[in-house]
Amino acid sequence: MKSDREHASTAVIGLQWGDEGKGKLVDVLGRDHDAVVRYNGGANAGHSIVIGGERFAVHLIPVGVFLPGVLAVIGNGVVIDPETLVRELEGLEARGIDTSGLRISSRAHIVMPYHKLEDAAREERAGADGKAIGTTRRGIGPAYADKAQRRGAIRVIDLLDAQRLRERVEEACRIKSAMFPGGGEELDPKMLIARLGPIIERLRAHVCDTTYLLHDLLAQGRRLLFEGANATLLDVDHGTYPYVTASNASALGIPAGTGVPMSHVSTIIGVAKAYSTRVGAGAMPTEQVNALGDRIRERGREYGTTTGRPRRVGWIDLVALRYAAMINGITHLGVTLLDVLEGLDELHLCVGYRTGGGVTNRFLPDGRELARVEAVYETMPGFFGDISGARQMSDLPKEARNYLTRIEEFVGVPIGLVSVGPDRSQIVDAAGILGARAVNSG
Ligand code: GDP
Ligand code: IMO
Ligand code: MG
Repeated sequence: MKSDREHASTAVIGLQWGDEGKGKLVDVLGRDHDAVVRYNGGANAGHSIVIGGERFAVHLIPVGVFLPGVLAVIGNGVVIDPETLVRELEGLEARGIDTSGLRISSRAHIVMPYHKLEDAAREERAGADGKAIGTTRRGIGPAYADKAQRRGAIRVIDLLDAQRLRERVEEACRIKSAMFPGGGEELDPKMLIARLGPIIERLRAHVCDTTYLLHDLLAQGRRLLFEGANATLLDVDHGTYPYVTASNASALGIPAGTGVPMSHVSTIIGVAKAYSTRVGAGAMPTEQVNALGDRIRERGREYGTTTGRPRRVGWIDLVALRYAAMINGITHLGVTLLDVLEGLDELHLCVGYRTGGGVTNRFLPDGRELARVEAVYETMPGFFGDISGARQMSDLPKEARNYLTRIEEFVGVPIGLVSVGPDRSQIVDAAGILGARAVNSG
């Protein structure tokens, strides 16, 4: 029989198209855990947190790095750009953050300079036909493609032994050169190895077998917090393909990306903004390309953490949220950026899609099909007055509470957390899921 502790881990997963405020909720929840674990994606992610007015953003390092005594673990499912990782480590250290708790899976795959070139070249080529995906150009797709190809892929463990690294890089360059004749210094093994040299020495002490590390922690009764990157509607299998990222960004990626089975995870928090945003191309049925969209973009500071691109903005899409909740098996909703909607007379909630065949309340994950639907809305009265100081549900105006109630009713999952501002203290613990450590150190 399993003890309670065997079910005590948590996951924080984006339910929309990214940037839902996962970083903030991981920061709030992390103090009740012993390790924060990334399982997917790479430097395409950008997770920002605000501590006492000071803003930090991380791309590869788990948000646990900001929490004293909590390990920050990069699992095997992440694709690591080592140059970006070292820059990030040094940037945090320069700001006084202790990075000694970082652990890097020896089996994670490496994003090489040629992956970023390929990402950009593919986007340019597709863009000429009006078909760019709008990737972050961080080399994510090509790195995962090489992982699936096997020959020519490079893993963290390959970096640790000079001879092995030389063999792997030479092999990769031979394969790539055969496919891209005339490749420049990005396909010169000597240049590539020279670039990696100092980086390897900086990372070596952090590398380990994270699968055993995590299972050892679990055996000691410790709790893990899985930090989703990207989001469910960008999941390569379950998102709006082809306008998705290259990994399983939903909770389904956790076992493959860490070696920890889902039976250890009892709390799955699905994070959704109180409205919708999307960066890059692809359908978004509730998008508002108008003054309302501009207003929400400015109030919510909706500009990409990774690329600085303005985010597309729209009303909340409950059809998409219910689908994402189903895929992830979420136990609680975390609704973020509610404060941004303050002062609007009416709030619109998408509760169906009008298609050629009538209205459906089922999501259409095919990017092309989704582009053809028209959102069907319910409207509710908006709320007024600054809510950024709310710490309990009863502090929120009635109209805001009604809005949240409608969301949980439609999605069919209770709201656990409501975020009313970027700071780690600006949180409403609606279902008592924050433990004593998290609540007391807000
Ligand atoms: P992530 O990728 O899911 O971690 O989200 P990002 O960090 O990319 O984007 C979320 C943005 O919203 C960040 O700038 C956060 O500081 C900010 N944020 C998070 N929660 C709230 C909130 O409740 N209200 C407001 N106004 N901003 C928030
Ligand atoms: P976080 O973790 C928002 C989007 C890109 C693009 C598509 C594919 O901060 O929520 P990729 O570079 O992954 O091949 O790009 O996915 N995308 C994100 N959008 N937030 C993210 O991460 C994203 N990660 C990928 O904009 O549309
Ligand atoms: Mg982000």
